[in-house]
Amino acid sequence: MIDLRSDTVTQPTIEMREAMANAEVGDDVFGEDPTVKKLEEAAADLMGKEEALFVPTGTMGNQLAVLAHTERGDEVILDAEAHIICYEVGSPAMLAGVQLRPVPGLLGRNALDKLRQAYRQPDIHFPTSRLLCLENTFNRGGGTVMTPEEMKAINDLAKELNLAVHLDGARIFNAAIAARCDVKEFTRHCDSVMFSLSKGLCAPVGSVLAGTSEFIAKARKYRKALGGGMRQAGVLAAAGLVALNMVDRLAEDHANAMALAEGLAEIEGLQVELHQVQTNIVLVNITAVDMDAPTFVEEMQKRGVKAVTFGPRLVRFVTHKDVSRADIEQAVKVAKIAAGDV
Ligand SMILES: Cc1ncc(COP(=O)(O)O)c(C=O)c1O
Repeated sequence: MIDLRSDTVTQPTIEMREAMANAEVGDDVFGEDPTVKKLEEAAADLMGKEEALFVPTGTMGNQLAVLAHTERGDEVILDAEAHIICYEVGSPAMLAGVQLRPVPGLLGRNALDKLRQAYRQPDIHFPTSRLLCLENTFNRGGGTVMTPEEMKAINDLAKELNLAVHLDGARIFNAAIAARCDVKEFTRHCDSVMFSLSKGLCAPVGSVLAGTSEFIAKARKYRKALGGGMRQAGVLAAAGLVALNMVDRLAEDHANAMALAEGLAEIEGLQVELHQVQTNIVLVNITAVDMDAPTFVEEMQKRGVKAVTFGPRLVRFVTHKDVSRADIEQAVKVAKIAAGDV
């Protein structure tokens, strides 16, 4: 089976499994796990932040950030298609008691105007605009990259409006590879950042949240409250440390995504916006084919290729370590048959 559903399906490497077996561990709730500490220090350093916190998932990292940056009743501004609003189970409302202000196209053109419009002037009737959440790369945008310049501009405006800025950087290393720059070029323009170890970087579990020491102390307490205080978590952090050395290979995933996109774009009835294929995600519009996305995905799966539906007529493919160029060529052949272009 060629699994292009997500980069989360990657298997841990042999090196990771060895590092996990040999990890030096302690009780991390007591602050005694040396491997977790090593990962958190390395991550803080890479992100250019004072401190970092190892968390089980990206979702928890994002939610800790929402909790730590806000008070109940505050408003959080974000793109209407952001992961935090689409796929995190409504937890900003459930856990932090905040209201989300979804802005269509915030992560696209005219971001500054859209942010200004979404911001609430102080008024007794209004919730307090407190936090802006960005996402880079932008998953539902098709893995598109917000440039460091765009991040700087929106962060500068957020600061003028007294908003904290959290970056959902689940795939921030993909952004850095695509933009050929250091990841700090992005993270210097946000107050906090979450990045995933368990996606393209192939760790079996884990994400990291980074920010100021004060922010991380708050987030650490919320992590405990949510049941995320893990004990000998160094076994997992050991794989995370190996993952941090796997950043450069993301370039292969990007090249494979472009090869896939170009192959799919040639198929009658499939539409791919090639300029939006900037990292490891390919979105395919199947409007011109006489079937809906679930049927198309099913037709592909029957022939050995997995993808996910991303809308009634939209399908998402994600490249990663465990798919080769030959797999990509096979996936294109299968898509051609599924689309009836034979
Ligand atoms: C942009 C983005 N943010 C956050 C997450 C959440 O990560 P996790 O699945 O580890 O909770 C994902 C997962 O796919 C994601 O794509």
